[in-house]
Amino acid sequence: MKIAVIGTGYVGIVTAVGLAEFGHTVIGADKVSEKIEKISHGDVPIYEPGLAELLKANLKKGTITFSSDLNGTIQAADVIFVCVGTPQGDDGSADMSQIEEVSRLIAENLNGYKVVVEKSTVPVKTSSWIKRTISLYKKSDQEFDVASNPEFLREGSAVSDFLRPDRIIIGVETERARDMLTEIYADFKDRLFITNIDTAELIKHASNSFLAMKISYINLMADLCERTNADVEQVAKGMGLDPRIGGLFLKAGLGYGGSCFPKDLKALIKIGEDLGVNMNLLKETDRINVERTRHFLEKIKRALWILKDKRIALLGLAFKPETDDIREAPAIKLIRDLLNEGAILRLYDPEAQANMKELFPEDKVRITYVKTPYEAVNGVNALLLCTEWKEFSELDFGKIKGLMANPIIIDGRNIFRPEAVRKLGFEYYCVGRK
Ligand code: UGA
Repeated sequence: MKIAVIGTGYVGIVTAVGLAEFGHTVIGADKVSEKIEKISHGDVPIYEPGLAELLKANLKKGTITFSSDLNGTIQAADVIFVCVGTPQGDDGSADMSQIEEVSRLIAENLNGYKVVVEKSTVPVKTSSWIKRTISLYKKSDQEFDVASNPEFLREGSAVSDFLRPDRIIIGVETERARDMLTEIYADFKDRLFITNIDTAELIKHASNSFLAMKISYINLMADLCERTNADVEQVAKGMGLDPRIGGLFLKAGLGYGGSCFPKDLKALIKIGEDLGVNMNLLKETDRINVERTRHFLEKIKRALWILKDKRIALLGLAFKPETDDIREAPAIKLIRDLLNEGAILRLYDPEAQANMKELFPEDKVRITYVKTPYEAVNGVNALLLCTEWKEFSELDFGKIKGLMANPIIIDGRNIFRPEAVRKLGFEYYCVGRK
């Protein structure tokens, strides 16, 4: 079986490399030839632990090749994983134009039976559109099937999530497609969950929205904790001890960002509303999340009063640790708000600085990017923590205190122990605990 993976974005590249690692012969394809050129030489366009090594090893073994010839790639493949982007459209719905474009290309190059697998996150019912598009545009009477195999990998641990999945969801409507996908994931027979296509498509959106809801829920509890003597970390721990709830994704803080939760939640709201379902539960989830940075700004003002010309260090620019991705990162909104208030910012992140620089170019007056957390805190009136990179929990506080103009820490991810930092002489603010 020859596998094609179309689209070499986040999901595409990890899928291509992961399937090659499972022992399959994979062609990764993308219409952007410069990208293909780089990846073919082992140059990974994103920061993702372990990905570059795995790509290089599989290029060497010859299990993976890359091509910008989409027609040839489709013709050569038995199974085509569609991993192109489904960005958010103006009304919150997913923009499906890239999926449509690839469907037409597949139709034009259908030279034998093929299974077309949706891997990108798509609205329920997308497979019917793919099927209709291929049927409308195909030039031969060759058969094909459409299947859904949503991806559940997390940025920062994408490689291990792909190689050691908790579950593999497969949505199919024929035995033939089912057998081919089962063979692709032969090593994970115990983790396969096979269902119909609409169900598989919905499982992806339902999972991401549920996790987002858990995060907003604990953030709502954090708001309550701040008005009482309760501690949100303990509340989350206590709740999580109930196996029906589970302790994961109950970390209060600056809320969720990234390319998935915010977009998928809005897409599911739109899907539901279009189908006549009241989606207020998810609208509230979104509202609570959007409010997080405003709450955080209020805390900063409570600590510093007037922000104009205050020097502020911001540690952590990525939307979460172990990634250089800043899409929907809380830091973006915060930087914008702080600049509007006239603050002077010193910004640091171990991986995401280059991306943030594109959005907020360095001017060395209001915005300065620095190479270490210590350089960031030099002479500042406060330190803000936005992403819980491991290196931040290992900082030398004595040194930090000596460098800061005022020893004030405002921790948006609750990574420091309040009593420990206060004992060292810091004024310390966090989320949902005293
Ligand atoms: C998420 C899902 O976790 C993956 O299963 C899914 O495959 C992926 O979306 C996708 O649809 O492609 P990802 O966005 O990479 O993965 O990152 P997460 O680890 O889920 O974190 C999302 C956001 O929630 C981050 O901003 C993180 O800081 C925040 N978060 C997470 C919290 O605020 N609290 C928590 O307890 C957990």
